[in-house]
Amino acid sequence: MNGPPHDPHDGLASLFPGAGSVICDGTGWLTITREGDGKQEARCPACDRQRLIRAIGEFIPPRFRGPLPLPAQVMNWVQRQGAPDENGRTGLYIHGTLGTGKTHTAWLAAADWCAETGTRPQCGDHQVPPLLFLRVPDLLDALRPQDDKTRMRIRDCQEAGLLVLDDLGAEKPSEWAIERLYMIIDHRYAHKLPLIVTTNVPITRLAEHMSGLGATSGPAARIASRLVQMCTGVKMVGPDRRMGAA
Ligand SMILES: Nc1ncnc2c1ncn2[C@@H]1O[C@H](COP(=O)(O)OP(=O)(O)O)[C@@H](O)[C@H]1O
Ligand SMILES: [Mg+2]
Ligand SMILES: [Zn+2]
Repeated sequence: MNGPPHDPHDGLASLFPGAGSVICDGTGWLTITREGDGKQEARCPACDRQRLIRAIGEFIPPRFRGPLPLPAQVMNWVQRQGAPDENGRTGLYIHGTLGTGKTHTAWLAAADWCAETGTRPQCGDHQVPPLLFLRVPDLLDALRPQDDKTRMRIRDCQEAGLLVLDDLGAEKPSEWAIERLYMIIDHRYAHKLPLIVTTNVPITRLAEHMSGLGATSGPAARIASRLVQMCTGVKMVGPDRRMGAA
């Protein structure tokens, strides 16, 4: 959602070759006039685009709406719409220390992905979420055994249009939860679905780190190995922006 705002109505007429005039009534409908051919009505693509951009903006928490320069790997991933790159990677592994802008970058990447793919992030009832942005500690907490809601939650994480896992490795996971986390990541790996992870743990230390938190080494190592294969690493550097340093 970076870049200068411009009115998408500029240049609209070029979409309707041969039209004498193309006028939007401002409610989402166009009147197209062609010489000798009377008037025609059509949906206004510019209004549709503006509504999409507004819907995306409203979905982002206010703190993370402001523009930031995005790392090149993130821009590249957005341009590909999260589709596999030449190495089959569909994920971003955004890592760095506290306050370097990982969460903010992940939100902007998710917003740009929505804009690029024409996805409205708001989710209807009984629908697979177009975008799921979750803090991993909250997700692990919510994954409880033998619960219908848990089964739905896992399926949503597996199949969401885009899944963002914010703050992986921040808390001690239960063995049961980490096995579920593996099922989620493995599904997205197998189906080449887009994924964004933010963490303060370098990917080479993730398995060891999670085991250190008490996760059994098996699932922790399998999660790390999937992420290595499916993600492009994005290193965030700089001061802790929360301390007021710019
Ligand atoms: N490049 C930047 N310039 C200015 N402020 C930033 C920048 N990156 C992040 N911030 C702000 O700094 C704060 C911390 O960013 P956040 O993304 O939460 O960090 P992290 O997730 O890495 O701990 C937020 O208020 C965010 O809007
Ligand atoms: Mg964060
Ligand atoms: Zn319009």
